[in-house]
Amino acid sequence: MIRGCLDLLFAPNDSEMGSWQTKSQQNFQTYSDQAAPKTLSDQFVFLHYLVVTYATGISPAQNLVDDNDFCDQADPSISEGIMTSAHSPVPIRMAKDSTTIYLGDAIPILNDEVPDSSVQLIFADPPYNIGKRLANFNDKWPNDETYMQWCYEWLDLCIAKLDGTGSLYVMCSTQCAPYFDLFLRERVGILSRIIWHYDSSGVQAKRYFGSKYEPIFHCVKNKKRYTFNAHDILVKTNTGANRKLIDYRGRTAKPYNDDKVPGNVWEFPRVRYRMSEYENHPTQKPEALLERIILASSNPGDMVLDPFAGTFTTSAVAQRLGRASIGIELQEEFFKIGVRRLDIAHSYNNEPLSPPVKRFHRRPNVISGGRLL
Ligand SMILES: C[S@@+](CC[C@H](N)C(=O)[O-])C[C@H]1O[C@@H](n2cnc3c(N)ncnc32)[C@H](O)[C@@H]1O
Repeated sequence: MIRGCLDLLFAPNDSEMGSWQTKSQQNFQTYSDQAAPKTLSDQFVFLHYLVVTYATGISPAQNLVDDNDFCDQADPSISEGIMTSAHSPVPIRMAKDSTTIYLGDAIPILNDEVPDSSVQLIFADPPYNIGKRLANFNDKWPNDETYMQWCYEWLDLCIAKLDGTGSLYVMCSTQCAPYFDLFLRERVGILSRIIWHYDSSGVQAKRYFGSKYEPIFHCVKNKKRYTFNAHDILVKTNTGANRKLIDYRGRTAKPYNDDKVPGNVWEFPRVRYRMSEYENHPTQKPEALLERIILASSNPGDMVLDPFAGTFTTSAVAQRLGRASIGIELQEEFFKIGVRRLDIAHSYNNEPLSPPVKRFHRRPNVISGGRLL
């Protein structure tokens, strides 16, 4: 019986796609069917995922472990999902004012839709190859080599799309950071190797030092000419000015500056369920992190590109800060978040789009005459 229920749950979905259907979406449909868990053990793992996600509103991966921890603890029973660049020949494009979003594979879209040297800032936050489930597939390649071959392909494209004075920020897992470093330093100038440090409220590692950071490479095409708006990202100092000390090192004594350009260790909390910016995605990045990057490395009106948009955080912050943007996302489930979050449309395929309903937003049960309503 259990087997029957699971089969029903994972039966291929051939429902009508409605007015938005294009060839690429037919391909997506095929792809998600292929990626649906096929074996009984895969189905149990996925069922567990659905139950935990439904009950808590947080994916099990997000709930329990940090991104980098997850790599070494990935459940071997979840089938590998390889994201190729071959299954999305016709992307879907939607736009409002200077905000454009694509549903499709980043590599062909970068190739076909984005002119060379047309972008001032790129923020790339790809799948990390750590076995995290991202909607219809597992973020896991057969080995580091095939994963990095894929990364090198889109990295080369990103570099080609960057304007001569443009900046590229690349996030990756700690495990793969050396590959990225070696590749990038041959092609662009790496100005900073930033550590995004966060605390984790999830289960802490007990038998090793748990992962509390993710690397971000800050690169520029031309180390002599690039945008860096230091005055827009100043933070309060934690040293002399705080203690009202006087700096006697110069010719004239003066109070210590009370603000400074942030160093290369950034502390921002991860996006949590209770935060208003929360969307249903396992690796959503905080708006505060994108705000620092966009303010520092672009000017109003500049074009900002995110080839792995997820919940379209980059586009949302770019929109708020008056930048033009392009966001690309492979999965329809996440693309719909972008359509809504960027106020491009209120429905998609006739489906009304609404923000995630949080459990603590639901109307509390009312007691009437001793009975729960
Ligand atoms: C680490 S997440 C990005 C999260 C995003 N920065 C945010 O704040 O929500 C990576 C995203 O890349 C998407 N993705 C994976 N392969 C892709 C591809 N070939 N083209 C475009 N997007 C892809 C995944 O579906 C996932 O949503």
